[in-house]
Amino acid sequence: MAGKVATLRIKALVAGNWKMNGLKSARKEVVALGRKLARNKAACDVLICPPATLIAGFREDARTAGVALGGQDCHMQVSGAHTGDISAAMLKDAGARYVIVGHSERRADHGESSAIVRAKAEAAHEAGLIAIICVGETRAERDAGKTLRVISSQLAGSLPLRANAKNTVIAYEPVWAIGTGLTPTTQDVAKVHKAIRARLEKRFGFDGAKMRILYGGSVKPANAAELMAVPNVNGALVGGASLKADDFYGIISAYT
Ligand code: PGA
Repeated sequence: MAGKVATLRIKALVAGNWKMNGLKSARKEVVALGRKLARNKAACDVLICPPATLIAGFREDARTAGVALGGQDCHMQVSGAHTGDISAAMLKDAGARYVIVGHSERRADHGESSAIVRAKAEAAHEAGLIAIICVGETRAERDAGKTLRVISSQLAGSLPLRANAKNTVIAYEPVWAIGTGLTPTTQDVAKVHKAIRARLEKRFGFDGAKMRILYGGSVKPANAAELMAVPNVNGALVGGASLKADDFYGIISAYT
C-alpha cells in the first residue's frame, strides 16, 4: 500500500468558504474569476461556497467559469419542521455539488458534535453532494499536545461508514489559524496530514489513500504554494482570501 500511495496523483481542490459574506452584487467576483480561469485554466478543481441565498443566482456564471458551487452547512433531515435550516437536497436543487459540514464555527457557535456532523455528511451523500468534513484543534488543545488525539477522535466520529474518495473531502483547519493570519509550520501541517492519511487508509483502504485532504486556516496567495507542496495536502479551504477574485485566483494558480 505505501508504495502505491506515494505515487498516487490526487487532483487538488481549492474551495472558497465565503461564510456570512456576500450579497447578489458579489456575482461580479464569480464573473471576474471566470475571466481569469478562461485565460489560464486551473490545474485544480475550484469551488465556491457562498451563502445559500446566492447559490441559485450564481449557477450560470459558475458554470461558465468552470467553478463548482457548494453550501456551508446542511440539516441532517431531508425536510420537515426545522425553522431556518436548509437540507442537502435543497442545496443540490439550487445548484450545489458540495457542502461543508463540521466547520469549527458551526461546531463552536451551534454546538455541533461529531455525531451531528456525521449525520449531516450522511444526508449530503444521500442527496448526492460531496461532503467536505472539517476537523481541527483549538489553541488550548494544541498547547496541551493533544492535536493528533483531537483530530483522530473528530475523524472517527464525523466520518460516515460509507465515505469514499468520491463523496468525501477532509479539511484540516486548526481553529487558531482561522481568520488570524497565523498558520502552522509546514512541518506541523505535514505531520497532521500524514496522520489523517494514515487514519483514512486504515478505515477506508484504497479509498482512504485517494481521499482529498485540504488544509484551511489563513491560506493566502503568499503562502499557498508552500502549503500545497506539503505531502498529503490536496488543496485548500479558503475563507477571507476567497472573497475577491484576485486573491482567490492567486491561490488557485499556486496549484499548477
Ligand atoms: P480563513 O478561513 O482562510 O479566513 O482563515 C478558513 C476557513 O474558515 O475555512
